[in-house]
Amino acid sequence: MTDSGYFIAFEGGDGAGKSTQVGHLVAALEAAGREVVVTRQPGGTALGAALRNLVLHGEHITARAEALVFAADKAQHVEEVILPSLRRGAVVVTDRYVDSSVAYQGAGRALGAQEVADLQSWAVAGLTPDLTVVVDVDPATGRQRRGDTHDRMESEADGFHAAVREHFLTMAKGEPARYLVVDGSAPAEEIAAQVRERLEQEGLL
Ligand code: TMP
Repeated sequence: MTDSGYFIAFEGGDGAGKSTQVGHLVAALEAAGREVVVTRQPGGTALGAALRNLVLHGEHITARAEALVFAADKAQHVEEVILPSLRRGAVVVTDRYVDSSVAYQGAGRALGAQEVADLQSWAVAGLTPDLTVVVDVDPATGRQRRGDTHDRMESEADGFHAAVREHFLTMAKGEPARYLVVDGSAPAEEIAAQVRERLEQEGLL
């Protein structure tokens, strides 16, 4: 499905430390001589950057509209950035992908995981990561790490973030061959080593 490239998504709650882990992995892949394309959702394209601003920092937006904005970001991102990169053999590392929508809009906003998964799958034309790394963090730790500035999602109550977390873990449990769950409260270097080990097993490092 991903042609000759390899597609890795990092997922997890707000404040889990995903972005740090993305940085560690990209450095390891580049040191191994791989072409790496690093990107994030929402964002990663000009349209995506505008949508990110709207959906995270704009005024109230209804739950269904929110799901559609995230879906539009993904549709643009896959066609413009991810697929062309995979086709030329690059490793694509994205900070969030479809599972974020299933967890945040499906479980957090209670729109229904299956409906949101179907919507997002349509948006990305069925493109699934080869590996998804879930950086797991409990809502209280995530809140503490995020500090005082909050976007629309971050300012949701801990109950919302607990539902999101549970859903990430449920998805990972259902498909262990395609997921790696790491403990986001562990030292960053330790987590990075676990991710590298998994990619060694996959033959990528
Ligand atoms: P981040 O890029 O700083 O992690 O922030 C993105 C926020 O958007 C985060 O709170 C998760 C949320 N989000 C969704 O609710 N649905 C999605 O589909 C995506 C990609 C992100």
